[in-house]
Amino acid sequence: MDPDSQLKVGFIGAGHMAFGIAKGILAGNVLPENVKVSAPSSRNLKRFQELGIAVTHSNQEVVCGSHVVFVAVKPHLVPLVLCEISQHVTDRHVIVSVAAGVTLATLEELLPENSAVVRLMPNLPCVAQEGALLFARGTDAKPEDGARLRSLLHHCGFVEEGPEAWIDVHTGLSGSGVAFVYLFAEALAEGAVKMGMPSALAQSVASQTVLGAGRLLRDSGKHPAQLRSEVCTPGGTTIYGLHALERGGVRASVMSAVESATERARELGRKPAAGNRK
Ligand SMILES: NC(=O)c1ccc[n+]([C@@H]2O[C@H](COP(=O)([O-])OP(=O)(O)OC[C@H]3O[C@@H](n4cnc5c(N)ncnc54)[C@H](OP(=O)(O)O)[C@@H]3O)[C@@H](O)[C@H]2O)c1
Repeated sequence: MDPDSQLKVGFIGAGHMAFGIAKGILAGNVLPENVKVSAPSSRNLKRFQELGIAVTHSNQEVVCGSHVVFVAVKPHLVPLVLCEISQHVTDRHVIVSVAAGVTLATLEELLPENSAVVRLMPNLPCVAQEGALLFARGTDAKPEDGARLRSLLHHCGFVEEGPEAWIDVHTGLSGSGVAFVYLFAEALAEGAVKMGMPSALAQSVASQTVLGAGRLLRDSGKHPAQLRSEVCTPGGTTIYGLHALERGGVRASVMSAVESATERARELGRKPAAGNRK
């Protein structure tokens, strides 16, 4: 029997991220009856119930009934939630925080000694099972815990493990990067509207262009520069457009955007968790 089908998974917090991860997990071998989610209000719980997931207002109930617990509340609420559940965390648990900027050291400090803790950085496309997820294990999370998490998250998208120092970079590249891509898609569509295309059609074409380009980039394994040069006929339309982008400094702007978002994630991690806001 698949070990994931026996696994009990809990979510503390029922927002966008918890929902995206829960959907991915259910697309694998985890059974809905083995999943439970908690939140103080009922406003986000209905969509979990529609997936067959049990819901509660008690965070402690989620911990007591789970092996793997995702802490998916806003960063400033993490200390409050961990203090609340701490006495129920045992050596059978793996606590996985998705909170931006909350370090492994902070998580370990707030939980009983030797707790297995993981810091996971997902991104919004987990909802469409096309996320990019990077996780780092704490001192007492074993390689087997990492392997189990990888298997659990397999259907959420691309999952990789790395050192904690990469988590903030991943936040800038991928957590925030999603918004950079949306901005680019919006600008593509607006360019077409300026040239006379109806807005709805321009938006559909822009989103398909982003999707198609992304799929080809991932599936071909080619470097983006190679794919770009394959589209560039000498003296053709694309090189004229690329020249306009380079004149606008798009490459430097995007690099600076990833740098700024990474630095902001690092800054949030240095502040006491109670001051964090994302
Ligand atoms: N959104 C992203 O793209 C993204 C990407 C990477 C990481 N993250 C991280 O994911 C975490 C969650 O973000 P989100 O976008 O999913 O937030 P969200 O949509 O605002 O959801 C937060 C959830 O936390 C619940 N909550 C509040 N106080 C709680 C408590 N004391 N106990 C249990 N649950 C409580 C809320 O309950 P109600 O339903 O009652 O309001 C809500 O369901 C954040 O730490 C963020 O840094 C987000």
